[in-house]
Amino acid sequence: MNQTRCIVILSILALFVASVSVAGNISLPDASQKVFEGKPCINSPRAIGNYPASPFLFYIPTTGQRPMEWSAEKLPKGLKLDSKTGIITGGEYTVTLKAKNALGTSTEKLVIRIGDDLLLTPPMGWNSWNTFGRHLTEELVLQTADALVANGMRDLGYSYINIDDFWQLPERGADGHLQINKDKFPRGIKYVADYLHERGFKLGIYSDAADKTCGGVCGSYGYEEVDAKDFASWGVDLLKYDYCNAPVDRVEAMERYAKMGKALRATGRSIVFSICEWGQREPWKWAKQVGGHLWRVSGDIGDVWNREANKLGGLRGILNILEINAPLSEYGGPSGWNDPDMLIVGKVGWGKNIHSTHLSPNEQYTHITLWSILAAPLLIGCDLEQMDDFTMNLLSNREVIAINQDIAGIQGSRVYADNNKEIEVWSKPLKDGSIAVGLFNLSDNKQGISISWEQLNIQGKQKVRNLWEQKDKGIYINKYQSDVPSHGVLFLKIEPAK
Ligand code: GLA
Repeated sequence: MNQTRCIVILSILALFVASVSVAGNISLPDASQKVFEGKPCINSPRAIGNYPASPFLFYIPTTGQRPMEWSAEKLPKGLKLDSKTGIITGGEYTVTLKAKNALGTSTEKLVIRIGDDLLLTPPMGWNSWNTFGRHLTEELVLQTADALVANGMRDLGYSYINIDDFWQLPERGADGHLQINKDKFPRGIKYVADYLHERGFKLGIYSDAADKTCGGVCGSYGYEEVDAKDFASWGVDLLKYDYCNAPVDRVEAMERYAKMGKALRATGRSIVFSICEWGQREPWKWAKQVGGHLWRVSGDIGDVWNREANKLGGLRGILNILEINAPLSEYGGPSGWNDPDMLIVGKVGWGKNIHSTHLSPNEQYTHITLWSILAAPLLIGCDLEQMDDFTMNLLSNREVIAINQDIAGIQGSRVYADNNKEIEVWSKPLKDGSIAVGLFNLSDNKQGISISWEQLNIQGKQKVRNLWEQKDKGIYINKYQSDVPSHGVLFLKIEPAK
């Protein structure tokens, strides 16, 4: 298209030049200017400006015979040149952030990458499902946002507020669009998005790769582009895309997800794509390829501890999820995270009968520690209006969150397990060269757990910090040992002592 337009313009120019030449004797080079012939010539502009935090895009204007191959030296980090099209895109910027108040200043670096990646660290936020099930409403979503602002959790990084199933009506409208359930969302989804954006939150929404969602309301199958455009126009920032009522076949699933992935990408809006087929088709092997940024690796989580999943109608316990994730570390990382499902602490309960989580306090420490080590999404599932101090503390430990959010984005893995004693040690290497280590006691009795530096591949003097307590434990030379309560954990950060 551009090429044709260029030829037309240049031909008109050539005619004009030829006529000037005859009339006024101005001698110009043969201006049929065969743009696509001859040696390459890189033309202007040779300088370009760009705002730091907006996408960079530059086509290198080049005349000469095609095919052409472009290259560039010293491209700033994060910019990418496609050698076949001559288009430079992307951009990574490290910004120094400062916050100052009467008591002092905090300075931290923020990496802003403009390019193909979203979600450079696992998402943090809230999702309506584990507490409200089908009973979510606009009022509830806005209240949740207000609660996150008031209780300070927004300032700890919880930023996505995700509307799950049941925001839509069972049937698609006569106009071909999904219909918002106006009893629940009287002012529409855009109103909610605007409300959240004004407060710095992002909005997630839910649909399904079939005619109907898991709850039986309208899904997006066959209407991927229409729905993706609607989501983008409302200001949606994340789509959780479920797989109920869809064929079991893996290739079919990949195709269905790819359609929506492509449609979301085509909107041009940064919409995170959350794949939810419960790990049944090994999505960790293909989800990124179809545009996914996170993918569920297991069935729905329940507030249960043990490995017998069936006690709560098939809901997964913490130990189930631990086993499922053990072999998956290599698949998780920036822009593509394994998702062991939402947090199951606080008051939860899928609908009207909300109860305090059935996990004991130690089991909850284990749960959150494991999610931190796994670099898992931290999506709170509980009612924030009824959050007790214990739950608040559990979800607000800055040092525990920092392990989850570490920008190296490495999913931790199991380094040691003693199945007789029911002891496991997991570790997660961090960007600054230190490691986070979880000593898990999965047994029914208190036990001592010991971890040697050899097992962790480190040596010499190491500083040990207890992350839940936020206290240094001292400097150790060969190993660290401590009692760990039943079903509990000791969460440590270990770094070379100076
Ligand atoms: C599935 C998903 C859940 C939730 C429900 C909604 O079960 O796995 O997380 O989204 O559907 O119906």
